[in-house]
Amino acid sequence: MTALPRAAALFLAALVLPLTASAALKEGATTVLITGANRGIGLEYVNQLAARGWNVIATARKPAEATDLQAVAARNPQVAIEALDVADHAAVDALAAKYKNQPIDILLLNAGITPTYPSAMKQLSGVDFDMARQSFEVNAIGPLKMSQAFMPSVLASGKKQIVVLSSKAGSFGESPKMPFMYEYRASKAALDMYMYTLAFETGRKGVTLVLLSPGQVLTVQDPKMREMMKNMTIETNESVAKMLVVIDSLTPADNGKFLNYEDRRVIPW
Ligand SMILES: NC(=O)c1ccc[n+]([C@@H]2O[C@H](COP(=O)([O-])OP(=O)(O)OC[C@H]3O[C@@H](n4cnc5c(N)ncnc54)[C@H](OP(=O)(O)O)[C@@H]3O)[C@@H](O)[C@H]2O)c1
Repeated sequence: MTALPRAAALFLAALVLPLTASAALKEGATTVLITGANRGIGLEYVNQLAARGWNVIATARKPAEATDLQAVAARNPQVAIEALDVADHAAVDALAAKYKNQPIDILLLNAGITPTYPSAMKQLSGVDFDMARQSFEVNAIGPLKMSQAFMPSVLASGKKQIVVLSSKAGSFGESPKMPFMYEYRASKAALDMYMYTLAFETGRKGVTLVLLSPGQVLTVQDPKMREMMKNMTIETNESVAKMLVVIDSLTPADNGKFLNYEDRRVIPW
């Protein structure tokens, strides 16, 4: 190779590389970033959105162990897997820097510590304060930090949407009138207030921010628990398909709302 073509190639690479941070992503395709994409609702979002031919940046705490996600990525070349713990703010900033030239149409903040830990069903004497602090870090502060770090990529996109998975368990109006899930319920109520507050900014920037309740979804992994819960829950594919109908219908008028997965009903705080 002569010196000139090599220099030209390097020059071209310098021009092209910043446009798409990952080789897996197709230029011009709708792009979604999903946190907690290795299992449960997050993984099903990856399945259904990759099937649309969208670019999916699927984040997982431990990509090497995320075999189901790796299988989806192997079938869908436009799925990029990235390591991310949403409580690690330096890692969030580093990932946002990596994708700073990539428009992100939908920032889908799904990762959460869900009430499958032993203290979830306990009353006051059983509250686990480490779990309470950790739930606050991951479920409430995590999505706020993600929104801060990735806002430039959302603003650069066509859709400009932030979709955050919340829970009726954090709603004063609709949570069960029972003393349980202290750690989880408070973290989701805090999440709702962070997002309610952020919506006053996103509204001015043309970004549509919504919280979604996914319904009661069968994502527990323990076979005995799955058997016990199967009659009171829906499958992940049904929940995600219905949430996608809601997401597809979003307009700027929805900014700041907490919506139900199946009927678009506004859930009270
Ligand atoms: N399932 C339901 O009935 C239900 C109801 C209402 C709301 N939601 C909400 O919907 C979302 C998904 O629920 P799910 O049932 O699919 O939950 P899940 O099966 O428990 O999965 C949780 C996901 O979040 C990830 N995660 C946990 N801590 C994280 C951290 N620090 N950084 C990055 N990722 C982290 C997990 O990764 P690891 O595998 O590494 O732990 C996993 O991928 C959650 O926000 C949940 O609160 C669910």
